[in-house]
Amino acid sequence: MNNIAVLISGRGSNLKALLDACTDGRLDATICAVISDNPNALGLVFAQDHGIATHVVEKLPHQNRQEYDRRLISTLELIDADWIALAGFMRILGSELVNRYIGKLVNIHPSLLPAYIGLNTHQRVIDANEPKHGATVHFVTEELDGGPIIKQQSLDVLPSDTAESLAERVLQIEHKLYPLVMQFLISGHARYENGKCYLDD
Ligand code: GAR
Repeated sequence: MNNIAVLISGRGSNLKALLDACTDGRLDATICAVISDNPNALGLVFAQDHGIATHVVEKLPHQNRQEYDRRLISTLELIDADWIALAGFMRILGSELVNRYIGKLVNIHPSLLPAYIGLNTHQRVIDANEPKHGATVHFVTEELDGGPIIKQQSLDVLPSDTAESLAERVLQIEHKLYPLVMQFLISGHARYENGKCYLDD
């Protein structure tokens, strides 16, 4: 019941945070596979070094989103994961895939959603002189970065902050938040129902 497939495109620090939490008992789960759209993702090397099965599902030049998603679904079916955690997976998923895994498919995003969907969130927060920034874990729906929020955590933006320093501090939040939320889900304290997120109490 507690197998998590982690989808990445790059460095994989959130993957590492999830694996650390599984190892030290904060997260009662197994990372059963790592899938990447990027064959050069550093997180793949990390996964292989830790004995986790890896799969590369690269976007081919002639493929549209639906065709790509179907290949991804085929890979996910092989893995038979209970949960799919997007951790820096930089592709937009289409309706077929999203609806197939709705309620089991989650994403971490580096902003206080619904503010700052999309890319380059840290610089945009600085440019807008925002007093607060943070990270959000949410269920994935067809709306980009728009699914029901499970949990988010904020920090104060400092006058001295740059996009890089903010990215670093938000990442520290992400590394605690994602394992915590996955444990909420696995233990049944958070669940998806009819387009909403329900939390115990
Ligand atoms: C993380 O900051 C994550 O929130 C972000 O990519 C980074 C991946 O870092 N995801 C998105 O922007 C998705 N819209 P990591 O590879 O070190 O985990």
